[in-house]
Amino acid sequence: MADAIFWNKVADKYADTPIANESIYQQKLAITDKYLTEQSEILEFGCGTGSTALIHAPKVNSYTALDISTRMIEIANEKLQQTPQSNLTFIESTLENWQQAHPDTSYDVVLGLNVLHLMADYRQVISQSFEVLKPGGYFITSSVCFDRFSWLNIALPVMKLVGKAPHVEKFTAEQLMQAMLDAGFDLAQEWEPSPNSQQSFLVMQRPKHT
Ligand SMILES: C[S@@+](CC[C@H](N)C(=O)[O-])C[C@H]1O[C@@H](n2cnc3c(N)ncnc32)[C@H](O)[C@@H]1O
Repeated sequence: MADAIFWNKVADKYADTPIANESIYQQKLAITDKYLTEQSEILEFGCGTGSTALIHAPKVNSYTALDISTRMIEIANEKLQQTPQSNLTFIESTLENWQQAHPDTSYDVVLGLNVLHLMADYRQVISQSFEVLKPGGYFITSSVCFDRFSWLNIALPVMKLVGKAPHVEKFTAEQLMQAMLDAGFDLAQEWEPSPNSQQSFLVMQRPKHT
């Protein structure tokens, strides 16, 4: 799969790159914390090298983290060996494949961080996230939205052509919210990290009686 090839290629560099904005990252962790309990069963897709999973896993009952890239999962497992967490598992998989293999398993919280805008079928992935959640469960996402013109609109197609960028789906914050509502979610919390970041951090809830 083209996306896996791209992410395998960049995985080591991605692992060595510092977080772009530490205070925004800390705020995202703090918001997520409000929806985690010691009993929580968590599923994360597109977990990358597992940094966020390693931070949240000690606070919850179980944490399953998926990524399409073999190399990302290898690096995540190397980190896990250094700081073992018996309730945390990294698995090479898409959300769809995981759901098909475990149709009867459901979760309290599903995380998709910096990944929905990389998926051409993001609406389908949002629906799959709804399906794998327990009623009342939360879907926490952080996405780049294309609400106004940026240099990325021009640069991305060119970079993709020469293998320097993955597919990027250019939805607006409004289109993303509509896809969430169409899937059946209610909005629990919304946070825009900064007016210029073009990022949308959303906590959506699967209604309790669905
Ligand atoms: C920008 S990175 C984000 C990683 C991590 N969530 C973070 O916030 O640092 C996107 C990740 O999504 C993974 N990915 C892309 N498409 C995917 C898919 N269809 N299923 C699962 N993972 C995918 C990539 O391999 C990559 O590790």
